[in-house]
Amino acid sequence: MSPPLSVALERAIDERQRRLVPTQDLLHNDVPFPTADLFSNDYLSLCTDPKLRQAFLDKISQMPLVFGSGGSRVLCGNAHVHVLFEERMKTFFRAPSALLFNSGFDANVAFWQAVPQAGDAIIFDELVHASTRDGLLGSRARSALYSFSHNSIPSLRDTILRVLGAHPEIARGSATLFIAVESLYSMDGDFAPLPELVQLVDELIPPGCGHIAVDEAHSTGIYGTQGRGLVSALGLENRVDTVLHTFGKARALTGAVLLCSPIVRKYIINYGRPFIFSTSLSYATVAAMDASCDYIESEAGTELISSLHRLSASFEQKLKVALASIPPHILSPFPRNTPSGFPEGITSPIFPIITSAPMPLAEFLRSLGYDTRPIPYPAVPRGQERIRVVVHAKNTEAELDDLITRLLEWAFMMAEKERKEKSHLHPRELAASPSYASYASCIRAVGLSKL
Ligand SMILES: Cc1ncc(COP(=O)(O)O)c(C=O)c1O
Repeated sequence: MSPPLSVALERAIDERQRRLVPTQDLLHNDVPFPTADLFSNDYLSLCTDPKLRQAFLDKISQMPLVFGSGGSRVLCGNAHVHVLFEERMKTFFRAPSALLFNSGFDANVAFWQAVPQAGDAIIFDELVHASTRDGLLGSRARSALYSFSHNSIPSLRDTILRVLGAHPEIARGSATLFIAVESLYSMDGDFAPLPELVQLVDELIPPGCGHIAVDEAHSTGIYGTQGRGLVSALGLENRVDTVLHTFGKARALTGAVLLCSPIVRKYIINYGRPFIFSTSLSYATVAAMDASCDYIESEAGTELISSLHRLSASFEQKLKVALASIPPHILSPFPRNTPSGFPEGITSPIFPIITSAPMPLAEFLRSLGYDTRPIPYPAVPRGQERIRVVVHAKNTEAELDDLITRLLEWAFMMAEKERKEKSHLHPRELAASPSYASYASCIRAVGLSKL
């Protein structure tokens, strides 16, 4: 007889598979790897950059110590490299102070678990990351959590007013109302309306009682001068209280840095469990973080950032035109607007494409060498199933054009299949759905190369 724990775990996994929730065992890596990366968070294509690799190797070859720090920073693991790198981050981001973490996940859990106090309240965008949610659930303010509709300023306004009514100590100025958002959301590829958000907080919350925390996991490195992020690009550094920059995405590594006030920093060092009870970053990792920052801040980094924005803007435009004639249930671009107060030229590299058949579409593209990923129900609500395409600095225009061509090819194959399934329809109704024959003319109309 199987032990009861195994029975319970297997039952849970079976149930998950029955609900068609993607379930993994990670026993094999993703080989053969497709030729074009259209999925990873490596927005600047730095993970495979030979110059960054060499810069890192040069750096560590000069260092007397490269391995582990030997403990948590509050025990014996507070090395010179950690202190120096925090100083660099503080200066670079023009922040009051900076605190290093082993990951963005740890930073969010540490901040949200430790910093809000009993009597405080927290409002969060309904789409914030799991690490923020985990932190919120362990927070002393966990009985006062309120979500607002994704990126909706009217919903945020209503929620702030409701919270101020329910927590008069905040309105009286003796407690804090925290607001948790991400600057760029990875699932929808859209931006938080930060300029309006800071204005709303100024308008509704007594001075000093609002605390805005922005997670820049997906925007660090790719917006603002030398990749300082979206808060900096929008000139909001002095109006946002805490900002998280992670190193796992555009910065091509692991680790994170939290920009916050000196008292928040000191409090987390002494009360933030993921900070206290984990071995600090190895010397080699901090050296790699340093090398990655050198690179992104250099001319070569600026070129990569420009390339990412140029490719993203052109892909967005071409995709919109290409999908205009496709029935929306087969393929449609995810609708999104740039929030007000954003300067020109801020483009998202993340493109969700809505389709009722995300798995077959991703498989079709993968067979052609394009690594996009399906996001099926229940990961997203029904009707919003999608594939996600992420543009990278070193994708090529030709490869992105070809991807659109392939998307169209697939869409017309699907339309043709539907026509056959509806062959009992009146010819007039049939004529209303696009046919495979119109595929070539559509490709020509959007100015893409033929297959
Ligand atoms: C918005 C957001 N915040 C935090 C994290 C966690 O960062 P890390 O991967 O460094 O643990 C992620 C990771 O996917 C994320 O997307």
